[in-house]
Order: sequence, then C-alpha cells, then structure tokens
Amino acid sequence: MKDLRIFTGRSNPRLSEQIVNYLGTSLGGVQLENFPDGEISLKLFEDVRGRDAFVVQSTQRPCNDHLMELLIYIDCMKRASAQRITAVMPYFAYARQDRKDEGRVPITAKLVANLLTVAGASRVLTLDLHAAQIQGFFDIPVDNLSAEPVMTAFFESLDVGPITLVSPDIGNAKRARVYAERLGGELAIIDKRRVSGSEAVTYNIIGDVRGRTVLMVDDIIATAGTMMQAARLVRERGAERIIVAATHGVLAGPAIDRLAAAEIDHLAITDTIPLSDEARRRLPNLTVLSVSELLGEAIRRIHRNESVSSLFIK
Ligand code: R5P
Repeated sequence: MKDLRIFTGRSNPRLSEQIVNYLGTSLGGVQLENFPDGEISLKLFEDVRGRDAFVVQSTQRPCNDHLMELLIYIDCMKRASAQRITAVMPYFAYARQDRKDEGRVPITAKLVANLLTVAGASRVLTLDLHAAQIQGFFDIPVDNLSAEPVMTAFFESLDVGPITLVSPDIGNAKRARVYAERLGGELAIIDKRRVSGSEAVTYNIIGDVRGRTVLMVDDIIATAGTMMQAARLVRERGAERIIVAATHGVLAGPAIDRLAAAEIDHLAITDTIPLSDEARRRLPNLTVLSVSELLGEAIRRIHRNESVSSLFIK
C-alpha cells in the first residue's frame, strides 16, 4: 500500500511479521539495539517523510523498556517528518492504574497517555484496553479493538452446547454479557475482591452453573489469582466443563503454577504477548489465538481513512 510504513519494536516481532504478511507488505528496515549501558539506540533505514507510519509494540514485561522503545520510535519518526504516526499497542501496559482510588497514588495510565502524545503519536491502535475510558486520557484518536470475534470463533469451534458465561468479577460483567449474547448463553457474575496485587478472593456467584459448561472471559490473566479462584468456585458449584479465555496472557509470578493446577478444561489467550516456552510446556490445555488479522485489517482501514469502529469496536 502506497505511503504505508510499518515498523516493529522488539516486544513481539512475530505478531508484527504476521500483521505485515496479512497486509501483503513487509516491515520497515531498522537498526534497533542497546548501548552497553542499556540505553536504546534506533535508526530507521526507510524514508518516512510524509508517510503514514505505524509502529507495533506491546508493552508487556519489561514494561518500561518496551514503553521507552516505543517512545523513542515515535520521537524518531516525528523528527524524520512522518505525516502521521500510529502507535499500535496490542497490549497496553499500566492500564490497570487508571484511577485514584486511594490517597497518594498515581494515575499511571494517564501518564502513559501523556508520554505517547508528547513523544508525537498521532493516534493509538490497541486491543481490549483494561478500561475503555482510558481512551479519554488521550486527545488523539484511540481505536480500541475487541478480540471478541477471534474468541467467539474459537468457542464455536469447541462445540460446547449450552453454556453459562461467568464474569470472574463485577468489572467484567459487560464483557461477559457481550459473549452471552453472541453465543446464546446464560450469564452469571462472581463477587470478587482483590486483597493484594496477586491475591483475589471470591465470595459468591450470582447465577446457576450446576451441570453447565462455563465460559469465563477476562481482559488480562496476570498472576491468575482471579481465574484460579473463579475456576475453584464454579467447580464447587457444580460446573461440568470450564473454559477460560483472556486477551492478554501477561502470566506473571505464580500464574503458570496456578493455571497448571487449576481444573480448567480449555484455556485460550491471544498472541498480543509472546508465550514463554515454560507456559507452552506446562499448559497443554492452552490455545493461542492470533489477533494479527484483526490488527492488520484495522491498520489497512486506518491507512485508507475507512471506518474501524463499524467492524471491531465494542
Ligand atoms: C481486573 O480487573 C482484570 O480484569 C483482571 O481480572 C486482572 O487483571 C487479572 O489479574 P490476576 O490474573 O493477577 O488476578
């Protein structure tokens, strides 16, 4: 496509390759490395002057390095006179720090929005932001796609029969309702409280799961505390089959141990974050779904100034 330039950071080059394959193009040439002290060095080998430039970079662990690399990319493109710069962030880190819910804490999601904008981003393309309102932290366009079409196709392929969509916490109820409508299932909601960054406690479930196939969808599995507790609760309440899915497999700390031990029949995540060898080895029930076509199609539409929201946004 004329005047389109797509570059990748180092957080998820495989996904970037799949995106450009979908678009029938190739990644822009770049030299990206670290100085001996760890600082990032970048040089574009492609001319971006007057071009529609995209840089694909998830910001999973090490979040700060990946974020800084993205900011440096954007600064570089701005100084090289790109006409428009889109930060494509399949996984947008720090999104869970989106409000001041107690005294003396930052709103880091807003800080990240400021950093991206000041660096020179013209727009952001992301997927299943933890809270859709984060779009309002930006004064530039933000396209927040949903992995729902990819997930729904996967669930349908499992041929599960009658299901109950269980929201693992109140905050996810809207997402669960969307899936319940798409898949024709019933809805149940778990009352969860977070007691620390890695511990969640589930108190009760509103709705009946006895003898049902249960499907639980979340935006993120981080330490897997939420899903571990939710799976335990629905099993106690008589669920017959448990399917768990999350867009972003952050899989931090005890997550792999917890998921390996949990009584989950199918587990699905997308490829917004590369899967570790350990996770691949220890989670035989895990399926990785690709969002490359979803992101590729959104890039095509943004580039052509066509509607993205009509197809993908919740
Ligand atoms: C919380 O509001 C999110 O939607 C996820 O449920 C949460 O981030 C998952 O974290 P963890 O896997 O550590 O319980």
